[in-house]
Amino acid sequence: MRKKLRSYDWFGKDDKMGFVHRSWLRNQGYPDDYFKGRPVIGICNTWSELTPCNGHLRDFAEIVKRGVAEAGGFPLEFPVTSLGETIMRPTTMLFRNLASMDVEESIRANPIDGVVLLTGCDKTTPSTVMGACSVDLPTIVVPGGPMLNGRFKGECLGSGSFNWMVKEKTLVENYTAEDIHEAEIGSARSQGHCMSMGTASTMACMVEALGLTLPGAAAIPAVDSRKKVLAQLSGRRIVEMVKEDLKISTILTRKAFENSIIVNAGVGGSTNLIIHLLAIAGRIGIDLSLEDFDTIGSKIPLLVNLKPSGKYLMEDFYYAGGLPVVIHELKKYLHNDAVTVNGKSIGENNNQPPCYNREVIASVDAPLQPAAGIAVLKGNLCEDGAIIKPSAATKSLMKHRGRAVVFETMEDYHARIDDPGLDIDENCIIVLKGVGPVGYPGMPEVGNVDLPEKLIRKGVKDIVRISDGRMSGTAAGTVVLHISPESSVGGVLALVKDGDMIELDVEKRKLHLDVSEKELKKRRDAWIAPAPMATRGYVKFYIDHVQQAHLGADLDILQGGSGAEVTRDLH
Ligand code: FES
Repeated sequence: MRKKLRSYDWFGKDDKMGFVHRSWLRNQGYPDDYFKGRPVIGICNTWSELTPCNGHLRDFAEIVKRGVAEAGGFPLEFPVTSLGETIMRPTTMLFRNLASMDVEESIRANPIDGVVLLTGCDKTTPSTVMGACSVDLPTIVVPGGPMLNGRFKGECLGSGSFNWMVKEKTLVENYTAEDIHEAEIGSARSQGHCMSMGTASTMACMVEALGLTLPGAAAIPAVDSRKKVLAQLSGRRIVEMVKEDLKISTILTRKAFENSIIVNAGVGGSTNLIIHLLAIAGRIGIDLSLEDFDTIGSKIPLLVNLKPSGKYLMEDFYYAGGLPVVIHELKKYLHNDAVTVNGKSIGENNNQPPCYNREVIASVDAPLQPAAGIAVLKGNLCEDGAIIKPSAATKSLMKHRGRAVVFETMEDYHARIDDPGLDIDENCIIVLKGVGPVGYPGMPEVGNVDLPEKLIRKGVKDIVRISDGRMSGTAAGTVVLHISPESSVGGVLALVKDGDMIELDVEKRKLHLDVSEKELKKRRDAWIAPAPMATRGYVKFYIDHVQQAHLGADLDILQGGSGAEVTRDLH
């Protein structure tokens, strides 16, 4: 016998409250049969004009609804907090957990049997997935898709990648203000999210590798008609998933998480995957640690030649065959029996897809790099860990000992980095403090700070930079990130002074501050914690509850889930 629908508790009863729940919804013109046993599908929409990457999702919701109705479901769209990466201050990461609470409670409080998550810009994927995990209903993700390739001076331009080069282009290649203006216009020329393998593309690949999308979803450009087909088919499929009671917890097993780590290494994905995947695992109750990313992913070959590690962009990736080719290539590393939203295994879904361009997607036998996953560092400077993305780093700097040039805050960095008197050379290590989850607050993407003007003019392309912050998935460099514990809560990073020697050895997974224990104790005794960044409201709540980066920076009280049950009615 089929399980009773959750929405029955709202619409199925002939009492006073059944009347109330149905009657007001009828004002939108739903016929009787919509209230008689159709699975209610919530379409969780992150559309917002303040989230440019998700600006097309209002149209997409209508297409999903078409699919839901065709399959006999009752689609009801609802808005949730949307996080626009390029606009929100101080950083969208401060609001990821808030958005996830909105998603969770919006689903739980309403007569929803299954959910479609419409996502796009970086945080709109993890926030919605985290919220959905804490309710645990059948859930499918429709990633909004990347923009068309940027174009400028006859060449491809990666949105989210060129902007990191503006200072260098202006200083070294004499780009004029007009050039930069043209690049600004040419880099975001269609609907969709960033089209390099930045965080949004990484998140789309993450959900596909986790099994939360229909096959091939991640790479389809936002404006390609096939994205609309995917949205419609996802609408049809979620209705079936409700009938099969295929919950998100059935899909998000430990195997699925391991698959996602492996695929991320293969595509050269963003370091932000770590923090989001850890947070998602915490919600669904899967034991996943920072070390797993190194153990499982660091030996995986790099197959995808996309910026920022490589040359091409997401549109090229799609035309070359997209993520199914990568998944098939990596099959000897993957759990091919992991189940996905269409009820088939990831191995069945990605069996022998053709690759149309080996320049863009290399084979596992001739990879772009033999071992490209993220490395997890340990040492006295990061007792709970730090990370580096070797595929985006400079090889010669992966083992390096340098003199620390310390910036206590981001404001301190801005004030002094281009001071001609700053005592810094290419062998130094930039140390940036105060940009962790508590310190900024919200752990912004500032770890890839620009080099000083005087080094850029000298032709220096990269120096080691370390911080407790994050880095945009579109950025590159020898950048150590996510140092935990962060400086603002008294991590050893807080004790680093100008002139200290720091040792980085990626092969040995080591990050060491070469200062004696005795001296560190003296500095610790004199250390004064910075004043909290807020004394009221959500930001205060966030500061009081946010966990450190190695745990995924979720709020401690949001770990796990409360399920889908709501026992009390509104009257
Ligand atoms: Fe939205 Fe890059 S700014 S994905």
